[in-house]
Amino acid sequence: MKHYNAPMCGIFGYVGTRKDSTKMAVDGLKSLEYRGYDSWGVAWKDGDHLSSQKEIGKISTVDGSKLSDNSSLVIGHTRWATHGGVTVENAHPQFNEEKTIAVVHNGIFENYQELRDELKAKGHVFTSETDTEVAPHLIEEYMKETQDFAQAVRLACKRFSGRYAIVAVYSKADTMVAARTGSPLIVGVEKEGSDVIGYFVASDTPAFMAHTRTVQYLDDGEMLVTNGKSILFSSIETGEEVAKREIEIEWSEERANKGNFEHYMLKEIMDQKESVAWAVNQNDDEIETVAQAIRDAKGTFLVGCGTAGKACMAAEYFFSVVSDRHVNFAPGSEFKLYHHFLKTESLLIVISQSGETADVLEAMNIAKSKGAKVLSIVNVKGSSIDRASDYTLHINAGPERAVASTKALTGQLAVLLLIAYALAGKLQEGKKLLLETAAQINDMLNPRYIDRLKQLADIIKQKEDLYIIGKSWNYPMALESAIKIQEVSYIHAEGFAAGELKHGPIALIEEGTPCIVLVGKDEVMPDILSNAVQLKARGGFIIGVSPEKNEIFDEWIKVPEAGAAQAIVNIIPIQVLAYFLAVQRGKDPDMPRNLAKSVTVK
Ligand code: G6P
Repeated sequence: MKHYNAPMCGIFGYVGTRKDSTKMAVDGLKSLEYRGYDSWGVAWKDGDHLSSQKEIGKISTVDGSKLSDNSSLVIGHTRWATHGGVTVENAHPQFNEEKTIAVVHNGIFENYQELRDELKAKGHVFTSETDTEVAPHLIEEYMKETQDFAQAVRLACKRFSGRYAIVAVYSKADTMVAARTGSPLIVGVEKEGSDVIGYFVASDTPAFMAHTRTVQYLDDGEMLVTNGKSILFSSIETGEEVAKREIEIEWSEERANKGNFEHYMLKEIMDQKESVAWAVNQNDDEIETVAQAIRDAKGTFLVGCGTAGKACMAAEYFFSVVSDRHVNFAPGSEFKLYHHFLKTESLLIVISQSGETADVLEAMNIAKSKGAKVLSIVNVKGSSIDRASDYTLHINAGPERAVASTKALTGQLAVLLLIAYALAGKLQEGKKLLLETAAQINDMLNPRYIDRLKQLADIIKQKEDLYIIGKSWNYPMALESAIKIQEVSYIHAEGFAAGELKHGPIALIEEGTPCIVLVGKDEVMPDILSNAVQLKARGGFIIGVSPEKNEIFDEWIKVPEAGAAQAIVNIIPIQVLAYFLAVQRGKDPDMPRNLAKSVTVK
């Protein structure tokens, strides 16, 4: 049998005094669509039964007020499937046969096959190919034993293996039950004065930010039950109550919205006019503490995935050039075998925008099992990685919604460079450089500059292959440039260390092949320009991203001269170029095919 599952996905749930819960669910799910956009579904309590709507495709154009105008209990889901199976039957919520129990799910029940066989033997009939569907059937089985819905959910959760988050509702109860082990689930508390008037649960805070900024975090191995007036948190394993604090989140809704921009990607690129400065705005003592932890460590490792991984690679150069320190980078998914080098005195620095990436969490677990300390640099406060770290620095970029990471990367680079300067005993010098760079980015992202990149996109948009080269910290930026262009425009793009060209890739260059050359005014400038000459000699169309003009460039994209912060400024025009390549090729840059923003499975 084929294995279909729903590994990333966005979850929303509400119970409270409002009657427009289906509208809130649909609006909330729209803001979670970055997590999955293959299909969506909503189930709501309608008198003493559950009604639902499930559809294939995006939820963006759906009007939730048309589903119901009189429901105060709702759950909803946007799905991202890894193994095909984008059908209405496989969309969530999933139900038991009588449709009295509905469940939405993020993650994977790894033992679902075994549970499915067990339930089938008891006469349960399955209508989808999802792992999720075992949940409502299993909860129904436990209801026979306990009569209590929350207790039945707890017993069912004890049977699941793997990383997951679920929200479940029952047609005969005015309560919502949620549980998590591995996948994020955050509670929003809506109040009128000091009275609670509703509870939200969601995979991410923008889903309920229009209604409340007071949150509570559900941790791994915990569940909650709420009737909209009160909430009870408990351990899935023991059933014992767990006390929780309320926390106010600082991000304003405005920073999470598209504003006047057509796409989040462009909005977030433009946010970099300010967000680099937000990242630099760190407490000096905290940065010094982190620098000291690196000094004290016997072996420092950097771990991140995707774009965050490229920030780690750039940091290897920052630490080497600025602070004369050797650190090792490994992508989260490759870290496992490094455990041989880990000791109690080792330090793991993890970089993650979402703070939820499964491969990074696994690397942290490996490091912790060896007694090593973990420092994280994350964007999402209160995320799993944030809470599981010994020290955390936040990049303060505000919500990043487009799948393609932009402002998070430059924030990560800024914080890493700041640490490198602190390590060299030059924190204030690093801060000054970064704040000057932030001001230069503000100038650079002017309408004329953006238009220039739009025109360049127009020139190369029909090309099917594109290459990017860089040296030093511009080498990881070449790799990152390739990711940006691939993921949103679907042009085949590849990044190389400039000096590696002559060892193979140069064979790919034909007359007119666009080649982007990332240049800084530094000691490797003559080398990279000589590599660009080699490309040009094979017919390459040379796009120079450089503080200085050079005759070999067919097109020159001017960037400020930024010293050790050059990687930060050089990547920005490529983000803009990737955006326009996507738009001009008729692709949606915010929702690239086959990708999701938050990758919460291995
Ligand atoms: C996904 C996203 C990337 C991101 C990576 C790591 O692949 O599409 O943009 O760089 O995950 O995510 P994180 O949240 O850990 O930075």
